[in-house]
Amino acid sequence: MNNRVKVFNDKEKLADAITHEFVSTLNKEKSKKYIALSGGNTPLLFFKKLSESDIKLEWNNIHFFWCDERCVPPSDNESNYGMIKKVLLDNENIPVENIHRIKGEDEPFEEAKRYSAEINRIVPSYNNIPCFDWIFLGVGDDGHTASIFPDQIHLIKSQKIAQVAHHPVTGQKRITLTGNVLKNARRITFLVTGENKKKVIKKIFDEDSGAKMYPAYFIKALHGKTEWYLDKDSASFLENNL
Ligand code: 6PG
Repeated sequence: MNNRVKVFNDKEKLADAITHEFVSTLNKEKSKKYIALSGGNTPLLFFKKLSESDIKLEWNNIHFFWCDERCVPPSDNESNYGMIKKVLLDNENIPVENIHRIKGEDEPFEEAKRYSAEINRIVPSYNNIPCFDWIFLGVGDDGHTASIFPDQIHLIKSQKIAQVAHHPVTGQKRITLTGNVLKNARRITFLVTGENKKKVIKKIFDEDSGAKMYPAYFIKALHGKTEWYLDKDSASFLENNL
């Protein structure tokens, strides 16, 4: 697996590093970029630093999509879009037509179809599958990524672009990009922090039989780059065999 692993002393340093990498990469390439973001807490610091960065990006060329969304209105605290809107989108003059949110407030199955069609229309394809330039993912302590949970691992191989999923504990409906779309990205960056992730990270990196329970284990760029930005806590079981 063409993994690249970077371990940082703490969340702050990890967020500084990915912010610098994001800004410098996007400023180098002036072409249109199609990026998919994840929710959860880990990327929050990254988005905050991005909005505070004094190196401004050419936002006209950047299209933001979401890897997944909770089926709630954008005003709900659970909304991934709502969170990113507060810390990043509201602070930058990103053209509204460049923001392609998942409408969590709408009927999930209809919205999954609508969102898939929007992606199909806008995001260039590679091997007849939408090909995002850069996808940011987190990993849950159960090994889920985006909203592909261990009990719905069939979503890894789905032929659809986006599908309805549900949180295995709360039952909350989600809409998620499927594994084939995630793996088709040119660049996949996992951002993982926290002591509670050390076990799942170890299993994924050891690639032992247990790893196959974790959807995150299967998300490896088929023709691009897969990289992991970890803090020391989440990587603490990896020190010896990095
Ligand atoms: C979501 C995310 C999800 C997240 C992981 C990790 O909608 O919750 O897309 O996949 O990345 O649950 O979340 P933390 O970063 O909060 O640990």
